[in-house]
Amino acid sequence: MLKGSFFLLIGLLLINACQMPSGHTTSSVSSPDGQIVVTTGLSGDGQLQYWVDFKGERIIDTSTLGFSFRDQPPLGAGLSVIGEITTTINEEWTMPWGEQRVVKNHGQRLVLNLEETAAPHRRFDLHIMVYNDGMGIRYHLLRQQGVDSVFITEEHTQFQLTDDHTAWWIPGDWDIYEHLYTKSKVSEIDALSKRDHPSLAQTYIPHNAVNTPVTMRTEEGVHLSFHEANLTDYAGMTLKVDTESHLLESALVQSDITGVAVQRALPFSTPWRTLQITDHAADLIESNLIVNLNEPNRLGDVPWFQPTKYLGIWWDMHLGTKTWDYASGNHGATTEYAKEMIDFAARNNIGAILVEGWNTGWEHWIGFEDREGVFDFITPYPDYDLEEVARYGKEKGVALIMHHETSAAPRTYEQQLDTAYSLMEKLGIHAVKTGYVGKIIPKGEYHHGQWMVNHYRKVLEKAAEHQIAINAHEPIKATGIRRTLPNAVSREGLRGQEFNAWSPDGGNPPSHLPTVAFTRMLAGPIDYTPGIFNIKLDPYKADNQVNTTLAQQLALYVVIYSPVQMAADLLDAYRGHPAFQFIRDVAVDWEQSQVLNGEVGEFVTIARQERNGDRWFVGSITNEEARDITLALDFLPEGQTFNATLYLDGEDAHWDENPTSYRIENRTLTSSDTLQLSLAAGGGAAISLFPAKQ
Ligand code: NOJ
Ligand code: CA
Repeated sequence: MLKGSFFLLIGLLLINACQMPSGHTTSSVSSPDGQIVVTTGLSGDGQLQYWVDFKGERIIDTSTLGFSFRDQPPLGAGLSVIGEITTTINEEWTMPWGEQRVVKNHGQRLVLNLEETAAPHRRFDLHIMVYNDGMGIRYHLLRQQGVDSVFITEEHTQFQLTDDHTAWWIPGDWDIYEHLYTKSKVSEIDALSKRDHPSLAQTYIPHNAVNTPVTMRTEEGVHLSFHEANLTDYAGMTLKVDTESHLLESALVQSDITGVAVQRALPFSTPWRTLQITDHAADLIESNLIVNLNEPNRLGDVPWFQPTKYLGIWWDMHLGTKTWDYASGNHGATTEYAKEMIDFAARNNIGAILVEGWNTGWEHWIGFEDREGVFDFITPYPDYDLEEVARYGKEKGVALIMHHETSAAPRTYEQQLDTAYSLMEKLGIHAVKTGYVGKIIPKGEYHHGQWMVNHYRKVLEKAAEHQIAINAHEPIKATGIRRTLPNAVSREGLRGQEFNAWSPDGGNPPSHLPTVAFTRMLAGPIDYTPGIFNIKLDPYKADNQVNTTLAQQLALYVVIYSPVQMAADLLDAYRGHPAFQFIRDVAVDWEQSQVLNGEVGEFVTIARQERNGDRWFVGSITNEEARDITLALDFLPEGQTFNATLYLDGEDAHWDENPTSYRIENRTLTSSDTLQLSLAAGGGAAISLFPAKQ
């Protein structure tokens, strides 16, 4: 589905080969604008290494590359370069849904062919891809004589930092990404101090390592974000931190069952190890490096998936006003409640509803060791008539989002995939939210290991056969697979809104989302579930609250991108509320997006133009600090007048002291106008801009 102008320039040229003092050859490849240069080559003992320069300054110092195996000697030293080739890629491709319609993919690729100088003379290739906003490195392991598969115990990809940068990080947990970000110097990263979180049903942090994306800022103000792209049939990568030498090194999630991290038949390519490099934090969000390093769309157009806002029988359970299970006598998923929600959705321009707790098995969920064979993905509880709810939804033009909580028993889920998805197909349901709460069964596998990476992929592929889109909770990290399989529509993979309802640590602080926008969000769409209006959770939760203002909850629909955006609060919170108009109006699929400003962990403002339309929406959020923001509206088309509705923090608004203070202003604006916005502490602003009829 490569549309529009598509051209691939292949230049077979040997570039920038030069002699190192040691007599060994290095090769360099630079970004199209020449600002980023990656140099690779061999050290005196034939060790493969590379370094990176940005605007003439070293940004990654000499770093080595290689592997350890179970049944073979390590690979990475004693090498010689036997060939190399560079290619220019310059193409455009279309997102079937997304933050923008057209994506530019313009970069230079260097492939280095390597061979061991001594027996067994193993060969492999190193691929380096350099863009104007960063670079990726991956290995392509080739078939060896007499060896048709490998057992990788560790990958040794290093990133030698040049200084003690400021980092925004979560621990390298093998089972969950639902941690708060810590801002610290690299020398102060202490992932082990994040063990034993009271709210996590699964967590395992074996090393002082971080999960990716991890974002950093240098003293000079350069922004770096480390991640991976195209994580396919491989273990997830954490980055081990040497706090003294400021060295990051890959540490793969292991399997205690096989005793290795990765088993693969040869030949194969590893995921890309990526580094986004930009002057401004805002440019990290605009970067398309991660999706560009994935394979083109294999599914073609996916008209059966429509980006949508959705309501859910969901927040009730997190507030404790209803339960997932039937036996409690206070079951949430009833036919009656679902129909009430469908009616409300239909009246309010919301395209779908999610119903959790509809199927049997919830009596045996959290806290149970033996969860194999418990959940059933086809049998509703007696008070929920699935067929009738689906029929009623269709009548009202409201889609159903199915829910499959696997309780981290993936084998049980895999056994039922075909029947569960056939049932959905029969009922015309095209999206499912999946969940993986708990320790993985079998014990010894982890959510982020190769075995689970393959499970999540199998689910996506099977779902695609049934025209079903996946929104995974407790997922594997996003690595741009949505380009190849655009039914990978959204995922959690962070501390979502739910923590505000029950976490004993006070929920997500105001700095959380201004950090997430520059870290987790670089990986891909986020099902954060915004839109809580009853910020203090009165009268349900005396000890919990959402730590933002109401206006910030609205701004999140624009700032935190997902093609499925929940209006998460109870219907009563929305009924008759003037600010609900923004949720009614806001689009979920975008022609283009522009990040207008931002600093990691502090604030960010994004403007997006709806797809197939002329309306624009702007969202701006801040952390604990109140701040005034000046916004030039020059992103709007010239000569067009817009009727703007501004949803702003009230003058006395404050995330803790007065979170629901807001005001709505109507203005007429054009591209030559400039707005002054005052964001309250923990606050935000949401703006809709509709072209005035001429
Ligand atoms: C955790 C998910 O994040 C949440 O959204 C869901 O309600 C529960 N699991 C139950 O599946
Ligand atoms: Ca979760």
